[in-house]
Amino acid sequence: MKHINYKFSNSSTGYYFDGSFSHLKKIVDQKHSVIITDENVYDSHSKKFKGWNTIVLKPGEEYKIQSTVDSVVEQLIDFAADRKTTLIGIGGGVITDLTGYVASVYMRGIPFGFVPTSLLGMVDASIGGKNGIDVGVYKNMVGVIRQPSFILHDMSFLSTLPQKEWENGFAEIIKHACIKDAAMFRQLEANSFKTYQGKKKLIADLVRHNAIIKTKVVQQDEFERGDRRLLNYGHTLGHALENQYELMHGQAVAIGMAYASVISENVTGFKEANRVTRLLLQYDLPTFVEFDKQKVFKVMKMDKKREKKELNYILLEKIGKGIVKPIPINKLEEIINELQ
Ligand SMILES: NC(=O)c1ccc[n+]([C@@H]2O[C@H](COP(=O)([O-])OP(=O)(O)OC[C@H]3O[C@@H](n4cnc5c(N)ncnc54)[C@H](O)[C@@H]3O)[C@@H](O)[C@H]2O)c1
Ligand SMILES: [Zn+2]
Repeated sequence: MKHINYKFSNSSTGYYFDGSFSHLKKIVDQKHSVIITDENVYDSHSKKFKGWNTIVLKPGEEYKIQSTVDSVVEQLIDFAADRKTTLIGIGGGVITDLTGYVASVYMRGIPFGFVPTSLLGMVDASIGGKNGIDVGVYKNMVGVIRQPSFILHDMSFLSTLPQKEWENGFAEIIKHACIKDAAMFRQLEANSFKTYQGKKKLIADLVRHNAIIKTKVVQQDEFERGDRRLLNYGHTLGHALENQYELMHGQAVAIGMAYASVISENVTGFKEANRVTRLLLQYDLPTFVEFDKQKVFKVMKMDKKREKKELNYILLEKIGKGIVKPIPINKLEEIINELQ
């Protein structure tokens, strides 16, 4: 079966693009594997799971927590899972983050792999080795960096993905285009949800292309000291908004990208903020909204990426070229205040 190996600092991951779930049996030993998935994925694709040891969790971010880890560990003990067992996370980012984390702590670490089933999972969450859980209001507060041994894509999962989740995935795809890939940006401009959802090959190619973009960024900077920070484009303001308002992640990031592109015009001389906002709207994502700036700034000042009085903000020099730029918090406040 065709696959590509991508090397990271201490390990490598086999990527099986546009494969089929049935390949899984050839990648792992079915008897020595345990699948972790959620009810939505299991109910929509129950046939696929026949013959596999499977743990089915409740869906949703609110279950990406320690008590779920405890319950999975107990079930692994019931399955007599040992160091030769492979854990396979089959689901969206919640399931893959959790699976990678459990696999990293169970018996001090056992092998694991992913079959991402959401668009966001395929192009983003399953890649890069960040695994972990939330603690109270703090997202991804506890975790490890450890790469999966394989990632298998089966596009047939996308047939049951709700439209809102397509929007979430496209927010990250547009992010990749903005920071790294002007040609993909133009391709996205020329297409729409309809064209991608109607053409298997088009979406499979887009998914593979985006998975590779993220993989290459991570390969060059696995521990996020430099360029990996570009993947936070739209996320500084996005996370602050997500904390305060009822927004999906993709919507919050879209708003963050819209603002970051205008901030770029002020700071780097970027000239195409219009194109960024037009593309976001084209994929049903929000751009500029009214928000309580005082509140949002307070959260932004607490951001993990803060260094002293400056925030490392991700800006665009041009479409397809993101840069990390330290901006004094006062200046950021000034620009955003002038915007509304
Ligand atoms: N590790 C990383 O680098 C990284 C990067 C980005 C996001 N994340 C994490 O990923 C999570 C978000 O991922 P997500 O958007 O995939 O969320 P998710 O796992 O909650 O999935 C979204 C929803 O879609 C459902 N679903 C998934 N696949 C389906 C399918 N094929 N058919 C029908 N329903 C399906 C899920 O049950 C869920 O209700 C967050 O916890 C975030 O922190 C991690
Ligand atoms: Zn994101």
